[in-house]
Amino acid sequence: MGMIRSVVCGYGSCLPKRAVTNQELEGVVETTDEWIIQRTGIRQRYVAGDDETTCSLGEGAARAALENAGLTVDDVDLIIVATSTPDNTFPAAAVDIQSRLGMRHGAAFDVQAVCTGFVYALTTADAYLHTGLAKRAIVIGAETFSRILDWTDRSTCVLFGDGAGALILEAVETEGSADDRGILAAKLRSDGNHKDKLFVDGGPSSTQTVGHLRMQGREVFKHAVGMITDVIEAVFDATNIGADDIDWFVPHQANKRIIDASARKLGIDPQKVVITVDRYGNTSAASIPLALVDALKDGRIKKNDVVLLEAMGGGFTWGAVMVRW
Ligand code: UT7
Repeated sequence: MGMIRSVVCGYGSCLPKRAVTNQELEGVVETTDEWIIQRTGIRQRYVAGDDETTCSLGEGAARAALENAGLTVDDVDLIIVATSTPDNTFPAAAVDIQSRLGMRHGAAFDVQAVCTGFVYALTTADAYLHTGLAKRAIVIGAETFSRILDWTDRSTCVLFGDGAGALILEAVETEGSADDRGILAAKLRSDGNHKDKLFVDGGPSSTQTVGHLRMQGREVFKHAVGMITDVIEAVFDATNIGADDIDWFVPHQANKRIIDASARKLGIDPQKVVITVDRYGNTSAASIPLALVDALKDGRIKKNDVVLLEAMGGGFTWGAVMVRW
Protein backbone atom coordinates (compact mmCIF):
# COMPACT_ATOMS: atom_id res chain seq x y z
CA MET A 1 0.00 0.00 0.00
CA GLY A 2 1.33 3.44 -0.94
CA MET A 3 2.30 5.94 1.73
CA ILE A 4 3.68 9.47 2.07
CA ARG A 5 7.30 9.63 3.15
CA SER A 6 9.61 12.56 3.91
CA VAL A 7 12.38 12.56 1.32
CA VAL A 8 15.49 14.75 1.68
CA CYS A 9 15.75 17.09 -1.32
CA GLY A 10 18.32 19.67 -0.18
CA TYR A 11 21.07 20.36 2.33
CA GLY A 12 23.24 23.25 3.47
CA SER A 13 25.44 24.43 6.32
CA CYS A 14 26.97 27.59 7.73
CA LEU A 15 29.93 27.92 10.09
CA PRO A 16 31.26 30.98 11.91
CA LYS A 17 34.27 32.62 10.29
CA ARG A 18 36.66 31.94 13.17
CA ALA A 19 38.17 28.53 14.01
CA VAL A 20 39.74 28.17 17.47
CA THR A 21 42.42 25.50 17.92
CA ASN A 22 43.16 23.54 21.08
CA GLN A 23 46.48 25.38 21.32
CA GLU A 24 44.61 28.69 21.54
CA LEU A 25 42.57 27.30 24.46
CA GLU A 26 45.80 26.46 26.30
CA GLY A 27 45.98 30.23 26.85
CA VAL A 28 42.40 30.43 28.18
CA VAL A 29 42.21 27.56 30.73
CA GLU A 30 44.65 25.03 32.18
CA THR A 31 44.48 22.41 29.44
CA THR A 32 46.58 20.83 26.70
CA ASP A 33 46.04 19.98 23.05
CA GLU A 34 47.07 16.42 23.94
CA TRP A 35 44.42 16.03 26.71
CA ILE A 36 41.63 17.35 24.48
CA ILE A 37 42.55 15.13 21.53
CA GLN A 38 43.03 12.02 23.67
CA ARG A 39 39.79 12.38 25.68
CA THR A 40 37.50 13.75 22.95
CA GLY A 41 39.07 13.66 19.46
CA ILE A 42 38.53 17.43 19.13
CA ARG A 43 41.32 19.48 17.44
CA GLN A 44 39.44 22.72 16.76
CA ARG A 45 35.95 24.25 16.87
CA TYR A 46 34.30 27.32 15.31
CA VAL A 47 33.27 30.21 17.55
CA ALA A 48 30.74 32.87 16.53
CA GLY A 49 31.94 36.46 16.29
CA ASP A 50 30.03 39.55 17.41
CA ASP A 51 28.24 39.73 14.05
CA GLU A 52 27.20 36.06 14.11
CA THR A 53 24.27 34.51 16.01
CA THR A 54 22.26 31.29 16.01
CA CYS A 55 19.72 32.91 13.68
CA SER A 56 22.30 34.32 11.26
CA LEU A 57 24.02 30.92 11.04
CA GLY A 58 20.65 29.17 10.71
CA GLU A 59 19.66 31.58 7.95
CA GLY A 60 22.94 30.82 6.12
CA ALA A 61 22.31 27.07 6.36
CA ALA A 62 18.69 27.45 5.19
CA ARG A 63 19.68 29.60 2.20
CA ALA A 64 22.36 27.06 1.21
CA ALA A 65 19.84 24.21 1.50
CA LEU A 66 17.25 26.04 -0.64
CA GLU A 67 19.88 26.71 -3.30
CA ASN A 68 21.03 23.09 -3.20
CA ALA A 69 17.40 21.94 -3.67
CA GLY A 70 16.74 24.46 -6.43
CA LEU A 71 13.82 25.86 -4.41
CA THR A 72 12.69 29.19 -2.96
CA VAL A 73 10.79 29.89 0.27
CA ASP A 74 7.60 29.92 -1.82
CA ASP A 75 8.04 26.15 -2.15
CA VAL A 76 8.26 25.61 1.63
CA ASP A 77 5.45 25.71 4.22
CA LEU A 78 7.19 24.69 7.45
CA ILE A 79 10.38 25.69 9.27
CA ILE A 80 11.52 23.81 12.37
CA VAL A 81 14.66 24.91 14.19
CA ALA A 82 16.39 22.71 16.74
CA THR A 83 18.30 24.92 19.15
CA SER A 84 19.03 25.48 22.84
CA THR A 85 20.74 28.81 22.15
CA PRO A 86 18.12 31.01 20.42
CA ASP A 87 18.91 34.70 19.83
CA ASN A 88 16.06 35.62 22.18
CA THR A 89 13.98 33.78 24.78
CA PHE A 90 11.14 34.41 22.33
CA PRO A 91 10.06 34.63 19.57
CA ALA A 92 11.38 31.32 18.31
CA ALA A 93 14.58 31.24 16.25
CA ALA A 94 12.43 29.66 13.52
CA VAL A 95 10.26 32.77 13.05
CA ASP A 96 13.35 35.00 13.13
CA ILE A 97 14.89 32.87 10.36
CA GLN A 98 11.53 32.83 8.54
CA SER A 99 11.56 36.63 8.41
CA ARG A 100 15.24 36.75 7.40
CA LEU A 101 14.33 34.46 4.48
CA GLY A 102 11.47 36.80 3.46
CA MET A 103 8.81 34.15 4.09
CA ARG A 104 5.37 35.22 5.36
CA HIS A 105 3.33 32.04 4.95
CA GLY A 106 3.33 28.60 6.57
CA ALA A 107 4.38 27.82 10.14
CA ALA A 108 7.67 28.10 12.01
CA PHE A 109 8.62 26.91 15.50
CA ASP A 110 11.56 25.68 17.58
CA VAL A 111 12.23 22.29 19.10
CA GLN A 112 14.43 22.07 22.19
CA ALA A 113 15.98 18.71 22.97
CA VAL A 114 19.59 19.91 23.37
CA CYS A 115 22.02 17.62 21.50
CA THR A 116 19.15 15.38 20.34
CA GLY A 117 17.38 18.45 18.93
CA PHE A 118 17.98 17.67 15.29
CA VAL A 119 16.69 14.10 15.65
CA TYR A 120 13.58 15.45 17.41
CA ALA A 121 13.07 18.18 14.78
CA LEU A 122 13.48 15.77 11.87
CA THR A 123 11.00 13.35 13.46
CA THR A 124 8.53 16.19 14.09
CA ALA A 125 8.81 17.42 10.48
CA ASP A 126 8.35 13.84 9.28
CA ALA A 127 5.09 13.58 11.28
CA TYR A 128 3.81 16.85 9.76
CA LEU A 129 4.60 15.71 6.21
CA HIS A 130 3.35 12.18 6.77
CA THR A 131 -0.04 13.42 7.98
CA GLY A 132 -0.42 16.10 5.31
CA LEU A 133 -0.06 19.07 7.70
CA ALA A 134 2.79 20.37 5.53
CA LYS A 135 4.29 19.62 2.13
CA ARG A 136 7.90 20.80 2.39
CA ALA A 137 9.92 21.61 5.50
CA ILE A 138 13.26 23.22 6.23
CA VAL A 139 14.70 21.50 9.29
CA ILE A 140 17.58 23.42 10.84
CA GLY A 141 19.98 22.63 13.68
CA ALA A 142 21.65 25.88 14.77
CA GLU A 143 23.66 26.67 17.89
CA THR A 144 26.03 29.17 19.48
CA PHE A 145 27.03 27.19 22.57
CA SER A 146 30.09 29.46 22.93
CA ARG A 147 27.64 32.03 24.37
CA ILE A 148 26.53 29.78 27.26
CA LEU A 149 29.92 28.31 28.16
CA ASP A 150 31.73 29.15 31.36
CA TRP A 151 35.10 30.05 29.83
CA THR A 152 36.80 29.44 33.20
CA ASP A 153 35.57 25.80 33.38
CA ARG A 154 38.07 23.62 31.50
CA SER A 155 35.88 20.54 31.84
CA THR A 156 33.25 22.02 29.49
CA CYS A 157 34.60 25.01 27.54
CA VAL A 158 36.99 22.96 25.40
CA LEU A 159 34.20 20.65 24.19
CA PHE A 160 31.68 22.76 22.33
CA GLY A 161 31.48 24.79 19.12
CA ASP A 162 29.07 26.87 17.02
CA GLY A 163 27.47 26.26 13.63
CA ALA A 164 24.30 25.39 11.71
CA GLY A 165 23.11 22.79 9.22
CA ALA A 166 19.80 22.31 7.40
CA LEU A 167 17.91 19.70 5.41
CA ILE A 168 14.84 20.18 3.25
CA LEU A 169 12.25 17.43 3.47
CA GLU A 170 9.57 16.90 0.87
CA ALA A 171 6.36 14.83 1.13
CA VAL A 172 6.53 12.16 -1.58
CA GLU A 173 4.02 9.42 -2.40
CA THR A 174 5.93 6.12 -2.20
CA GLU A 175 5.16 2.41 -2.49
CA GLY A 176 5.33 1.94 1.28
CA SER A 177 8.16 -0.59 1.11
CA ALA A 178 11.58 -0.80 2.78
CA ASP A 179 13.12 0.18 -0.59
CA ASP A 180 11.44 3.62 -0.47
CA ARG A 181 13.52 6.75 -0.27
CA GLY A 182 12.88 8.99 2.73
CA ILE A 183 12.58 8.57 6.49
CA LEU A 184 11.96 4.88 7.15
CA ALA A 185 11.75 4.92 10.96
CA ALA A 186 12.41 7.19 13.92
CA LYS A 187 12.53 6.54 17.68
CA LEU A 188 12.64 9.25 20.35
CA ARG A 189 13.37 8.81 24.06
CA SER A 190 13.81 11.00 27.14
CA ASP A 191 14.29 10.58 30.89
CA GLY A 192 14.10 13.80 32.89
CA ASN A 193 15.43 12.10 36.01
CA HIS A 194 18.88 12.83 34.56
CA LYS A 195 18.16 16.56 34.18
CA ASP A 196 20.88 17.62 36.63
CA LYS A 197 23.72 15.88 34.76
CA LEU A 198 23.80 18.28 31.82
CA PHE A 199 21.95 21.59 32.13
CA VAL A 200 22.19 25.39 32.01
CA ASP A 201 22.06 27.05 35.44
CA GLY A 202 19.78 29.91 34.44
CA GLY A 203 16.54 30.75 32.67
CA PRO A 204 13.74 33.32 32.41
CA SER A 205 11.50 31.87 35.11
CA SER A 206 14.15 30.73 37.59
CA THR A 207 17.03 33.22 37.65
CA GLN A 208 16.06 35.76 34.97
CA THR A 209 19.53 35.16 33.50
CA VAL A 210 20.75 33.08 30.61
CA GLY A 211 23.06 30.94 32.75
CA HIS A 212 26.00 28.71 31.88
CA LEU A 213 26.31 25.11 30.77
CA ARG A 214 27.10 22.65 33.57
CA MET A 215 27.95 19.00 32.95
CA GLN A 216 28.93 15.96 34.96
CA GLY A 217 30.90 14.66 31.98
CA ARG A 218 31.77 11.26 33.41
CA GLU A 219 28.09 10.64 34.37
CA VAL A 220 26.90 11.54 30.87
CA PHE A 221 29.60 9.34 29.34
CA LYS A 222 28.53 6.42 31.55
CA HIS A 223 24.97 6.45 30.16
CA ALA A 224 25.70 7.50 26.57
CA VAL A 225 26.73 4.26 24.86
CA GLY A 226 23.92 2.15 26.41
CA MET A 227 21.20 4.67 25.54
CA ILE A 228 22.50 5.21 22.00
CA THR A 229 22.81 1.52 21.17
CA ASP A 230 19.41 0.74 22.74
CA VAL A 231 17.49 3.25 20.60
CA ILE A 232 19.41 2.23 17.46
CA GLU A 233 18.48 -1.42 18.09
CA ALA A 234 14.82 -0.24 18.19
CA VAL A 235 15.26 1.41 14.77
CA PHE A 236 16.97 -1.73 13.42
CA ASP A 237 13.97 -3.76 14.62
CA ALA A 238 11.43 -1.31 13.13
CA THR A 239 13.08 -1.32 9.69
CA ASN A 240 14.55 -4.80 9.46
CA ILE A 241 17.73 -3.01 8.45
CA GLY A 242 20.81 -3.98 10.46
CA ALA A 243 24.38 -2.81 11.00
CA ASP A 244 25.62 -4.61 7.87
CA ASP A 245 22.90 -3.09 5.67
CA ILE A 246 23.48 0.58 6.43
CA ASP A 247 25.77 2.62 4.17
CA TRP A 248 26.58 5.44 6.60
CA PHE A 249 26.37 6.06 10.33
CA VAL A 250 26.12 9.77 11.15
CA PRO A 251 26.10 10.08 14.95
CA HIS A 252 25.91 13.17 17.13
CA GLN A 253 29.48 14.42 17.50
CA ALA A 254 30.12 14.80 21.25
CA ASN A 255 33.16 12.63 21.76
CA LYS A 256 35.09 10.33 19.41
CA ARG A 257 35.35 7.72 22.19
CA ILE A 258 31.54 7.55 22.57
CA ILE A 259 31.11 7.27 18.78
CA ASP A 260 33.74 4.51 18.49
CA ALA A 261 32.34 2.55 21.43
CA SER A 262 28.74 2.77 20.09
CA ALA A 263 29.77 1.67 16.58
CA ARG A 264 31.81 -1.21 18.02
CA LYS A 265 28.94 -2.40 20.24
CA LEU A 266 26.50 -2.30 17.29
CA GLY A 267 28.93 -4.01 14.88
CA ILE A 268 29.07 -1.03 12.52
CA ASP A 269 32.15 -0.98 10.25
CA PRO A 270 34.34 2.01 11.27
CA GLN A 271 34.67 2.90 7.54
CA LYS A 272 30.95 3.76 7.54
CA VAL A 273 31.15 6.25 10.42
CA VAL A 274 31.14 9.97 9.58
CA ILE A 275 33.34 11.96 11.98
CA THR A 276 33.50 15.75 12.24
CA VAL A 277 34.09 16.19 15.98
CA ASP A 278 37.80 16.78 15.24
CA ARG A 279 37.02 19.94 13.27
CA TYR A 280 33.76 21.26 14.75
CA GLY A 281 33.72 20.02 18.37
CA ASN A 282 30.28 19.34 19.87
CA THR A 283 27.83 21.70 18.14
CA SER A 284 24.79 20.17 19.89
CA ALA A 285 21.71 20.26 17.62
CA ALA A 286 23.85 21.36 14.65
CA SER A 287 26.25 18.41 14.75
CA ILE A 288 24.26 15.85 12.72
CA PRO A 289 23.32 18.19 9.84
CA LEU A 290 26.88 19.58 9.75
CA ALA A 291 28.27 16.04 9.49
CA LEU A 292 25.66 15.06 6.88
CA VAL A 293 26.48 18.09 4.73
CA ASP A 294 30.21 17.27 4.84
CA ALA A 295 29.59 13.68 3.74
CA LEU A 296 27.15 14.80 1.02
CA LYS A 297 29.47 17.48 -0.33
CA ASP A 298 32.47 15.15 -0.61
CA GLY A 299 30.35 12.49 -2.34
CA ARG A 300 30.34 9.83 0.40
CA ILE A 301 26.53 9.85 0.86
CA LYS A 302 24.74 9.22 -2.44
CA LYS A 303 21.13 8.88 -3.56
CA ASN A 304 19.53 5.66 -2.23
CA ASP A 305 22.19 5.18 0.47
CA VAL A 306 20.82 4.03 3.83
CA VAL A 307 21.90 6.48 6.52
CA LEU A 308 21.53 5.98 10.28
CA LEU A 309 21.37 9.11 12.47
CA GLU A 310 21.66 9.08 16.25
CA ALA A 311 21.99 11.56 19.13
CA MET A 312 22.01 11.72 22.93
CA GLY A 313 22.20 14.74 25.21
CA GLY A 314 20.80 16.95 27.98
CA GLY A 315 17.58 15.81 29.65
CA PHE A 316 18.56 13.10 29.00
CA THR A 317 17.10 12.94 25.53
CA TRP A 318 18.13 10.47 22.87
CA GLY A 319 16.90 9.12 19.55
CA ALA A 320 17.70 7.63 16.17
CA VAL A 321 16.41 7.96 12.60
CA MET A 322 16.89 5.68 9.57
CA VAL A 323 16.75 7.44 6.20
CA ARG A 324 17.16 6.20 2.65
CA TRP A 325 18.74 9.15 0.87
O1 UT7 B 1 26.54 16.22 23.69
C1 UT7 B 1 25.90 15.93 24.88
C2 UT7 B 1 26.45 14.75 25.50
N1 UT7 B 1 27.71 15.05 26.12
C3 UT7 B 1 28.64 14.13 26.12
O2 UT7 B 1 28.43 13.09 25.54
C4 UT7 B 1 29.89 14.33 26.94
C5 UT7 B 1 30.19 13.08 27.68
N2 UT7 B 1 31.38 13.12 28.47
C6 UT7 B 1 32.62 13.16 27.92
O3 UT7 B 1 32.77 13.24 26.73
C7 UT7 B 1 33.80 13.03 28.84
O4 UT7 B 1 33.37 12.65 30.13
C8 UT7 B 1 34.67 14.31 28.94
C9 UT7 B 1 35.40 14.54 27.63
C10 UT7 B 1 33.79 15.49 29.28
C11 UT7 B 1 35.73 14.13 30.04
O5 UT7 B 1 36.51 12.98 29.80
P1 UT7 B 1 36.76 11.93 30.97
O6 UT7 B 1 37.67 10.90 30.44
O7 UT7 B 1 35.42 11.47 31.47
O8 UT7 B 1 37.55 12.80 32.02
P2 UT7 B 1 37.14 13.14 33.53
O9 UT7 B 1 35.98 14.08 33.57
O10 UT7 B 1 37.04 11.87 34.27
O11 UT7 B 1 38.43 13.94 33.99
C12 UT7 B 1 39.71 13.32 34.04
C13 UT7 B 1 40.73 14.32 34.53
C14 UT7 B 1 40.29 15.08 35.77
O12 UT7 B 1 41.43 15.22 36.59
P3 UT7 B 1 41.67 14.25 37.86
O13 UT7 B 1 40.45 14.43 38.73
O14 UT7 B 1 41.78 12.88 37.27
O15 UT7 B 1 42.93 14.78 38.43
C15 UT7 B 1 39.87 16.43 35.26
O16 UT7 B 1 40.03 17.46 36.21
O17 UT7 B 1 40.94 15.32 33.52
C16 UT7 B 1 40.80 16.63 34.10
N3 UT7 B 1 40.31 17.56 33.08
C17 UT7 B 1 41.11 18.20 32.21
N4 UT7 B 1 42.46 18.21 32.06
C18 UT7 B 1 42.96 18.95 31.06
C19 UT7 B 1 39.03 17.89 32.82
N5 UT7 B 1 38.98 18.75 31.78
C20 UT7 B 1 40.27 18.96 31.39
C21 UT7 B 1 40.86 19.74 30.38
N6 UT7 B 1 42.20 19.70 30.25
N7 UT7 B 1 40.13 20.48 29.52
